[in-house]
Amino acid sequence: MPANSENYFPGLEGVNVDTTRLSFVDGQKGNLFYCGYSIEDLAEHCNFAEVAYLLLHGELPNQQQIDSFQEELLAERYLDPHLKSIITLTPKDGHPMAVLQALVAQLAMHDKEIADRSLEAKRRKAIRIIAKLPLVVTYFENVRTGMRTVEPRMDLGHAANYLWMLTGEEPTPEAVKVFDTALTLHMDHGCNNSTFTCRVVSSTEADIYSAVVAAIGSLSGPLHGGANERVIHMLESIEELDEVEPFIDAKVASKEKIMGFGHRVYKVMDPRAKILRDLAGKFVVADPEMDKCLKKANLFYKITEERFQAKGKMDIWPNVDFFSGVLYKALGLPRDFFTPVFAISRVVGWVAHHFEQMEDNRIYRPRFIYEGAELGRKFKKMDKRT
Ligand code: CMC
Repeated sequence: MPANSENYFPGLEGVNVDTTRLSFVDGQKGNLFYCGYSIEDLAEHCNFAEVAYLLLHGELPNQQQIDSFQEELLAERYLDPHLKSIITLTPKDGHPMAVLQALVAQLAMHDKEIADRSLEAKRRKAIRIIAKLPLVVTYFENVRTGMRTVEPRMDLGHAANYLWMLTGEEPTPEAVKVFDTALTLHMDHGCNNSTFTCRVVSSTEADIYSAVVAAIGSLSGPLHGGANERVIHMLESIEELDEVEPFIDAKVASKEKIMGFGHRVYKVMDPRAKILRDLAGKFVVADPEMDKCLKKANLFYKITEERFQAKGKMDIWPNVDFFSGVLYKALGLPRDFFTPVFAISRVVGWVAHHFEQMEDNRIYRPRFIYEGAELGRKFKKMDKRT
């Protein structure tokens, strides 16, 4: 007979699936912590490598520890020539998230340690994945735009090297700080869909690459990381400031979801959205087009909030994806690179969760409530079927 339907939680809302030491999302107060540290402190004072070290080791690094961690990352900052040629053959209109998925699977096939299941080998693979993900998408951008191939630089940090490879131009210290902050904010976020996906795949004892490939697929969805790209598409489709209000009213009237708003856990404004909004405000003022985009975003945010409150929906606020797009546009990133930026940061959380999952693993195997045809139907041979 059908299973007990009392234990049915659509979207697994409110269900605890495991424990973690990595991050905590306080949805009522609007706080986020990594290994106990507030996201505000980490975003202000740390760079990508320090926060990645924190998530992978549980403690912030001292100088010696960060130096050797950065050396490990730098040692993997290259792509095998065969992988580069695969990127050259990749369809130029492919979405960079699809390119990432395909190329992480290729990285697995090129990894000589793929069959080594020791913890040390897994750790090296994790570093490899973190270091190479940005290279994959930036090479792809070089290829599809027909620009010269920009080789990675060993004198730059993770964030700066990404901006360098994407544009072939030395990024300003301000741009690097803004980008480092954005990467820090996206690195982990409790039991979000892609991290859960990563843990589900890891729980089968599949290799770390397979878990990351699956997580990239999850992140690409518009209800998850894919929202940031759609936010900027939405803002760009509104030409003038006085068109913002009718645009929102039409969306609300048609009960359409507004991208960059709402969250399963946050009942107040997402703390990452607050930081990104402030950063966007400071970073974009010099450019008139960006200034207009920011004005549209702020007006959009204000009117949308008014509309949600008027409808009694007091818990729908901008999430991380609303202002990140504005910031990435200001940094000159192509629109379809917004979600890959999320991926090159979140991958740290994914691999950290892979290790946590493997510490005390039990395969994820929930169940469905069966609602199908009557059980034990009479079987008909082909010639008897209508
Ligand atoms: N626009 C309009 N209404 C919304 C929105 C929105 N963005 N988000 C939630 N609602 C309404 C929804 O229509 C529903 O109303 P009702 O109860 O009257 O049917 C109610 O709020 C609950 O929504 P839900 O979709 O059941 O909530 P959920 O917890 O299942 O989904 C969410 C969370 C993030 C998928 C959803 O808020 C959403 O689709 N937002 C837009 C996409 C987006 O911005 N995603 C990024 C999420 S944050 C970063 C990340 O994970 O990447």
